[in-house]
Amino acid sequence: MKIPTDITRLLGIDLPIAQAGMSWASSNSALPLAVANAGGLGVIAAGPMRRDDLVRALDEMQAGTDRPWAVNMPLYRQGADEVLDLLAERRVPILIASQGGPKRYLDRFKALGTICLHVVAGEEHAAKAAAAGVDGLVVVGGEAGGHPPAELVSTLVVVRAVVRALAGRIPIIASGGFADGAGLAAALALGAGAANFGTRFIATPEANVHPAYKQAVLSAGIDSTRTVGRGMGMIRTLSNDFAERMMTMEAEGATMDDRKTVFAASTLKMAAFDGDLAEGKLEAGQSVGLVDDIVPAGDLTRRIANEYLAALRHMPQPV
Ligand SMILES: Cc1cc2nc3c(=O)[nH]c(=O)nc-3n(C[C@H](O)[C@H](O)[C@H](O)COP(=O)(O)O)c2cc1C
Repeated sequence: MKIPTDITRLLGIDLPIAQAGMSWASSNSALPLAVANAGGLGVIAAGPMRRDDLVRALDEMQAGTDRPWAVNMPLYRQGADEVLDLLAERRVPILIASQGGPKRYLDRFKALGTICLHVVAGEEHAAKAAAAGVDGLVVVGGEAGGHPPAELVSTLVVVRAVVRALAGRIPIIASGGFADGAGLAAALALGAGAANFGTRFIATPEANVHPAYKQAVLSAGIDSTRTVGRGMGMIRTLSNDFAERMMTMEAEGATMDDRKTVFAASTLKMAAFDGDLAEGKLEAGQSVGLVDDIVPAGDLTRRIANEYLAALRHMPQPV
């Protein structure tokens, strides 16, 4: 099946379904390979990866599929320049950069023929990235897991605002809150060319997180997430001992230094790798409440496409 949009044409994929870059969860080849081979966009999250693990994942992608795939590169990570060198050497087909400006990588990767997408969370950054010459945008709204935008403007509003501001001049992937084909239909109705699915893909056998994390995703409801760490790289995470401690400190006006200490003592790795459900950063979006099964990622990609068709059939028609 093909569902053509400006994003699928830009990237050379069949379906407007992107598996969001997620540190740990997609810091491997298994998840992105399954999505790529099902016709969606598979994304390796390079953020926490050591060089040799990333090299192995790139080799496995190159051997495992002839479809396009992407690497997500948070520009703030330690050793970012060395990782960019490696990605350039390996001529990755698609680069999705987050947390920094496009100047740092754009000319170099465009010259190599890499398609460059940039992650933004508002109209101003979207306009700047578009003017700098990126090929497309990932627009993130407040529902998102990981790092949502500071003011938590919802995906419904921010995607529409960016589409209107840029008058459809640049392809957009909408990110935050999408878990099924009805969500995909909503993203395309807003004027995006694809939806990004993060939390939904944690509940797959291929996701590189501890089984307890996956179970926590299945159990959580739409009101189970908290946003904590304002002013220090805020995250949306499942409620747990760590998140509630942060909430209490913020409510009671604890000093920035004290909050930073608690925030820094918890990591996504503790949750994703060690399965520490109480003290780790259990990053997940509000869409977590729409996830209730563990499904192989390729089947999930095809299921979302079929749900999208069903959602279209159920749309009220004019009489
Ligand atoms: C566990 C987790 C880790 C994430 N890691 C990254 C990352 O390394 N780089 C990035 O740009 N975004 C990251 N994100 C954000 C996602 O790319 C995406 O914007 C978000 O998951 C969309 O919201 P959703 O979870 O409701 O689908 C992460 C999200 C989650 C849930």
